[in-house]
Amino acid sequence: ILLSGRGSNFEALADSIAAGRIPDARIALVISNREGAPGLERAAARKIPARVIPSKGLERDAYDRQVVAALQEARVDLVCLAGFMRLLSPYFVQQFHGRILNIHPSLLPSFPGLEAQRQALEYGVKFSGCTVHFVDENLDAGPIVAQAIVPIEPADTPDTLAARILAEEHRV
Ligand code: GAR
Repeated sequence: ILLSGRGSNFEALADSIAAGRIPDARIALVISNREGAPGLERAAARKIPARVIPSKGLERDAYDRQVVAALQEARVDLVCLAGFMRLLSPYFVQQFHGRILNIHPSLLPSFPGLEAQRQALEYGVKFSGCTVHFVDENLDAGPIVAQAIVPIEPADTPDTLAARILAEEHRV
């Protein structure tokens, strides 16, 4: 699991595995590109191996080589991006081709990138949601696995919409 922050989607995966909803799965390693990401503490509390590989100041390729090496050393089969706020290099995608999943808080291909919930509100769509997809070299792109629809209420702010979408992210 790769993350950059809070780690609630990591916890949803860990909970689903613990409850037997994802058979034969084990979280081998959690990697954060940011020091102090709350997701790291959440992993430690569950005794799941977690480490920081700081991305600050590194070229994309140099950084991704470090992460790929750590994942290969942990003999990882599937990489789940759970709030990992970085574009993957072609090298990374090739190393785990067809074995990388991402979750994104919009109905892709609408509103890729940062602040997807704010983008949806500013555009004025009446429904948004979340998407789980396989990852290719492009930002928030690749074959879609699952989506959930979330209605937008007139009084929504980016925060209230994000919270409603997040509940669906955890389920999906
Ligand atoms: C989630 O809403 C996830 O969909 C989003 O970051 C949040 C991470 O929350 N990811 C992206 O926007 C990727 N482009 P979490 O750290 O609590 O799982």
